[in-house]
This record gives sequence, C-alpha cells and structure tokens, in this order.
Amino acid sequence: MDTDPRAKAHAPTHAARAPLAAKAREAMEKLNGEAGHLAIWLRTQANAPSQKPWFTHTDAADAGQMAQGKVAAGQMKASPHLWKWREISPYLDKIAQIAANADVPPVEFAERQQFLLTNPGLAGRLQVASTIRCAVSIYNPGDLARAHLHTPNASRTILSDSGGYTNVEGEKIRAVRGDLILTPNGTWHDHGNDVKKPVVWIDTLDWPILEFLDCIWLDEDMPAGIVDPRANVQIQKTSLEQGYSQRAYGRGGLIPSFLEHNRGAGHGVTPNVHYRGADIRAALEGLRGEKGDPYEGLPLDIVNPVNGAPLFATLGFGAQMIRAGEETLAKRETSNVVYVVLEGRGQTEVGGRTFDWEENDIFVVPNFLWRRHVNKGPKDAVLYTMHDRPLLQKIGQHRVQGRGKDGSVVQIVT
Ligand SMILES: [Fe+2]
Repeated sequence: MDTDPRAKAHAPTHAARAPLAAKAREAMEKLNGEAGHLAIWLRTQANAPSQKPWFTHTDAADAGQMAQGKVAAGQMKASPHLWKWREISPYLDKIAQIAANADVPPVEFAERQQFLLTNPGLAGRLQVASTIRCAVSIYNPGDLARAHLHTPNASRTILSDSGGYTNVEGEKIRAVRGDLILTPNGTWHDHGNDVKKPVVWIDTLDWPILEFLDCIWLDEDMPAGIVDPRANVQIQKTSLEQGYSQRAYGRGGLIPSFLEHNRGAGHGVTPNVHYRGADIRAALEGLRGEKGDPYEGLPLDIVNPVNGAPLFATLGFGAQMIRAGEETLAKRETSNVVYVVLEGRGQTEVGGRTFDWEENDIFVVPNFLWRRHVNKGPKDAVLYTMHDRPLLQKIGQHRVQGRGKDGSVVQIVT
C-alpha cells in the first residue's frame, strides 16, 4: 500500500477504478452472451447519442457527431457518401447481359433489374439515409414489371435520354432524362420498355420510414388489370390520354376546379405525377440572373400544384442550379438530403470531406453535417434533391444553420 501522500495526490483518481469497471463490463458482457437467446440485453454502456444539442457545436472543424457503441448499433448513423456513376453503372450492363442470356430474365425472379445503394454507415441496410431508399434500375427492350401498389411513396428520376415508361393510375408516362415520375402511396403502377434501347432511372422511396412504422404492404392483384402475354404479367390499361398530368396541373396557379385532385388510394399526395425535366430546366434558366440563395445557389422546390405542399409527407423534392463559378456558404440541417447530378460537374464539401461529382453521380448528405457546394467549372451545374425535410417539419424537428463568410454561425430555422 502506498503511504506517500504526494503519490496519492498525483495518482489519477480514475486509474484504479478502470480495471474494475472493465472487469464488471466483461462479466456483464458474458452474461449477455448467455441471455441473448432470451432477447434481453444487460446495459453495459451509456447511451451513445451526442451529449449536447447538435446546433451548439460551432467549431469550424466539427463535422457532426457519429453515434457509437452498443446502443448506437440499433441507431446507426448514415455516412456522407458519393456513388460515382462510372463505378456503379457497369453493374447495369452486367445485369443486362445476364438478362439477355437467361432462360428467365432477372426481372421475373427478382421483380426488378436494379441495384440498391447501401450507405456504408448502415451496415448493409438497403438505405442511403435513415429514411430514404435509393435504387438504380434498368429496363431493357421488352421488359415489363407487373402492376402493383404499395404503401411506400416512390419516385423515378430519369437518367436515360428517353425510352421506357411508367403507367400511374392509367396515365402512361414516357420517361425522358430529367423527368420526375411519381408513384404516390396507393397508386397502381407498372413499368416497361417498349422501345429499342434500355432505360435507366433512379428510384427513391420512403421505404425505411414505412418499414420502421411496420406499415408496408403491397398488392399485385389489380382488379381491372390485363395480362400482357409477352411476359405473362398483369399490367394496367391506359385510361388517360398521354400528358394528363401536364394538361391538368402543368401550369402553375391554374388548377381545374372540377377535378378531385387525388390519384389512387393514398391521402394528401400530389395529383401531378409527372414533372418534366425540360420544365424544371427552363424554370432554373429563367431565374439564372437572380441573386439566389447564398447556401444553395438557385434552389427550386417541386411541390403539389394544388396546395404547395411537399410531394409526399415523408419526402420532398427539389432541383438547384449551382452556376458556373458559384460557391455557396456552408449550411447544415436536421434533414437528410440525397443529390443526383443531372448536369455539369463540381464539388460538395460535406462533413470534412470533398466529393467531386459529375453527371449521374449520386451522393448523400446525412443530417447534422455541414455542406457547401462549389462549381469552379465554366458550365452551370444542376442537382436534383430528395430529402426528408417535410417529415422533420411535420414533427417540429427541422432546424437549419448557416455559416457567414467569416465563419460565424447564422440561425436560419431555429
Ligand atoms: Fe412500386
């Protein structure tokens, strides 16, 4: 036993306790090994979330705090991530080759020819962020996906110049690059490709949030469906003239009052299920000379034409132009944002990392992380965004901060 008071004074008081704590933890972990089959967990660690409000972290180097530890294992934190198109797109060709040579094409046994994006922070879950699922799909000439409906809301962001279609509640919508085609919850929809070249699009869904709510169901037995003998699958009849969404809702501020403004069995979803890339691009171009937003360049919200609400209660959609030579200020918010690069090239600094992006690249900025867009090139860049801001706003949890040029923090939404 050390009787020297000076030694005692200088000894770190926690040093003697640490081994005991470790021993106790080890013993408890052992018990956990025994008790696991009873579906219980003896608490061996403190809660992992950040121990102070995220918006009070003002250190310039702060990139947000990642959850850690056992408790956090059930609350995994998405990482910022960039999926480079030139790295992931060859897998579409590989799927297409398998489909071309197979007795039964993948679309028949897997329902889709696609790959899903998995966020590296989420340990293999089929999610790009806590609330959002993204896939990249290819439909080859002749492919058909059966008519169905489901509770998750879904969207398609078209990457191919043209080809392929989605039929939503009887409206057959031809896919053109930059188009956003929506299949709100409860709408019957089927996909196909009746032209001679493949079509590729990005599917974005609120699937994880519906999964969390244990509220996922789908129906593949359409009462008024017809069987297409080419693939022996049930598809829906085209009951609306082509361009219905454009004619009924394509002119802002002019809403036909004789329509019920509902498509399918869902509630409160947008009646316009087709936003044309050409219209989005023209709107951005028309605003090009405006000052814009210091944090976002020229952002547009894509909304329900009847009431200005987000397209889905869970997911919002937007497009933004980062003009040639434009650099935004840094911003962060409590919502997750997924970006698809429609045009141009540039950089986004996120969470202390820099993503160099170009056409068709996809990247995710998870909540709480600072982001800043830079376009040093000679051409304008156009990004499409999918985000869970509507959901965060609905539950009173949406906050936004920006940084001034001097690095000071500005409260944008408190
Ligand atoms: Fe679907």
